Amino acid sequence: MILVLDFGGQYNQLIARRVRENHVYCEVHPQSLSLEKIREMAPKGIILTGGPNSVYTEDAVTCSPEIFNLGIPVLGICYGSQLMAHLLGGKVETAPTSEYGKTEVTLNEAGKSSKLFEGVREKSICWMSHTDYIAKAPEGFTVTAFTPVCPVAAMENAERRLYATQFHPEVMHTEQGKEMLHNFVYSVCECKGDWKMDSFVKTTIAELKAKIGTGKALCALSGGVDSSVAAVLLSKAIGKQLTCVFVDHGLLRKDEGDQVEAVFGPEGPYDLNFIRVNAKDRFYEKLKGVTEPEKKRKIIGEEFIRVFEEEAKKIGAVDYLVQGTIYPDVIESGLGKSAVIKSHHNVGGLPDFVDFKEIVEPLRLLFKDEVRAAGRELGLPEYLVSRQPFPGPGLGIRIIGEVTAEKVKIVQEADAIYREEVAKAGVEGLGQYFAALTNMRSVGVMGDGRTYDYAIALRAVMTSDFMTAESAQLPWEVLQKTTSRIVNEVKGVNRVLYDCTGKPPATIEFE
Ligand code: XMP
Repeated sequence: MILVLDFGGQYNQLIARRVRENHVYCEVHPQSLSLEKIREMAPKGIILTGGPNSVYTEDAVTCSPEIFNLGIPVLGICYGSQLMAHLLGGKVETAPTSEYGKTEVTLNEAGKSSKLFEGVREKSICWMSHTDYIAKAPEGFTVTAFTPVCPVAAMENAERRLYATQFHPEVMHTEQGKEMLHNFVYSVCECKGDWKMDSFVKTTIAELKAKIGTGKALCALSGGVDSSVAAVLLSKAIGKQLTCVFVDHGLLRKDEGDQVEAVFGPEGPYDLNFIRVNAKDRFYEKLKGVTEPEKKRKIIGEEFIRVFEEEAKKIGAVDYLVQGTIYPDVIESGLGKSAVIKSHHNVGGLPDFVDFKEIVEPLRLLFKDEVRAAGRELGLPEYLVSRQPFPGPGLGIRIIGEVTAEKVKIVQEADAIYREEVAKAGVEGLGQYFAALTNMRSVGVMGDGRTYDYAIALRAVMTSDFMTAESAQLPWEVLQKTTSRIVNEVKGVNRVLYDCTGKPPATIEFE
């Protein structure tokens, strides 16, 4: 196991992810973790992360210098490297020139024979982000890399297996960062590399079992990847002590409610209590006459919580509330300063009246693709594991203007056709694609008669982070086939449009 000690930098979980990619188990803990605990954990290596402080300020976060005497290899990154230098008698100062972004780093002769840089080119681009730097390496250390303005871009004491880099090997922009972390875990720490997703699954189930014991847990299951994987982990750990409440708000994609029930309900393979609440009439009633997008979102979000609470009350007090929070949610909720473009439901909205003692978030440390891998490991069906993101308010925000049962049906049918055709054509690389119902009606002709029907908008975007997106250039044949099927098969639609707008200026969803 590799232990990452967190000094408050931005990329800490990314380090853990990079280590896990090397099939080595990794945990991130606060920098205050006691020496005793570290000894007990017996990691094969320790990584000290970056952080926002300066080592020489009074309130700088630090760790015990004894960490370097445990005989365990240590890699200090950015702030971690400065801390290593500072605690071992080197000199850290404000750099005359700060370095931010892509920077060419050169290995010196010692660097070329360093275990950390095996297979790394003499000159390569690394990601820098620092205002302080190591002005003088501690005694016993050798400088291994430099830049024109940073004399100690990397240093090491190979005998004591202490390594430090001023740059961030975990960040994608460090061209050979992957090799460096690979070298650290294999050549320096001598890890075996036998950790895989099945180890995460096994360990997590065992931990949940130990933590929850005979207690009861409650999970709001949406049928999305995250809550589904979290629910299965819990069900494997505690079986029927887990109750999953699935609120079907009538704004799901075609047949989705039944698909969720098939997997998690009594006919499915998992051992848990499953409650499906068919609440669509309630939601449609509340949405009657409402056209303003934010109002619709609020109504759906609040009603969702009310329904969930009502079910929870019937169950009574539980010990744990299960949340499918994943790592990007953790980062995003930490930001909170950006302007509210849309009030995302199911992010941070906790029910007030559910009686529970603690929240469990078994996926808190995973990225989305890791969650999917865990889902496959747990035997969840592929259609559920590879499901594209679907917003909490569901089709409610893919129907412009007032939501009615008739409009939901139209958009469900059109969307199902679209997804079928995209899948049939094997189009790859789409971040999200769906049909939306514009509130526009226009004149058409069918047979010999005039029609005055709705226009469906098709959207497909390519994105890696969903913060920005490009409209995808779908093959024309796919668009034509989808269009012809929609106008022929979906009653009430006589026109299909394709949305070519990127984000910004449009958002991915229509409301
Ligand atoms: P926008 O429309 O803001 O969407 O460009 C970005 C991503 O977020 C999803 N989205 C939501 N997800 N609750 C969610 O869980 C919401 O209220 C919500 N609104 C938008 C959207 O589907 C896209 O993936």
